[in-house]
Amino acid sequence: MNLSTHQVNLITTVRPMRVDDLPQVQAIDEISFSNPWPKNAYRFELLENLNGYCWVAEADGHIVGVIVCWLILDEMHIATIAVHPDHRGQGIGKKMVSTALVALIYHGALLATLEVRAGNIVAQNLYRYFGFEQVGLRKRYYKDTGEDALLMTVEPLGSDYLAWLNSGAANPWGSASHP
Ligand SMILES: CC(C)(COP(=O)(O)OP(=O)(O)OC[C@H]1O[C@@H](n2cnc3c(N)ncnc32)[C@H](O)[C@@H]1OP(=O)(O)O)[C@@H](O)C(=O)NCCC(=O)NCCS
Repeated sequence: MNLSTHQVNLITTVRPMRVDDLPQVQAIDEISFSNPWPKNAYRFELLENLNGYCWVAEADGHIVGVIVCWLILDEMHIATIAVHPDHRGQGIGKKMVSTALVALIYHGALLATLEVRAGNIVAQNLYRYFGFEQVGLRKRYYKDTGEDALLMTVEPLGSDYLAWLNSGAANPWGSASHP
């Protein structure tokens, strides 16, 4: 990892999403996915879904990433994550996943799950960094292309895992393997 990447990372902040972020959040969603979320979906997650937790990554006053998670009892689900194409590969995805995991572990999450396109190797690598493993396959899950989804989970999200997150995984350049 080179120095310029570190410098970019150092000025990226992950913070809770606000209503005035929504236009930039939706723009990142639209540029990142072939089947973007429906209009108003982010607004619903932010303002109405009591189980929804939304963060953005901000750099130099601009929104460069978004993550939305759900927490149902002790199960966390990563509903969506995207980084603006101009800012990928700089550790921002890692920083957002780490922030969400730490927050929701404090809220009682013991397990985290997600679905990811079978062909989305970059995202799968990101999730594997955090210890997610494939536990299932949902055939033809994505209606737009008929692509399969891998169901991935990581557990248990206990004190050892939290300590690992807090000791360096929150740094985008962190490389220690999860417990
Ligand atoms: C998936 C996504 C959020 C990753 O965000 P990012 O900020 O680029 O990721 P990071 O820079 O934090 O990289 C985290 C890990 O992802 C993997 N990764 C990142 N870029 C990669 C690439 N070009 N090729 C392979 N793996 C890659 C690596 O494992 C990396 O960890 P490392 O740096 O220790 O090797 C981003 O690529 C994206 O927005 N993609 C489009 C939307 C999407 O697919 N979302 C996931 C839906 S399930």
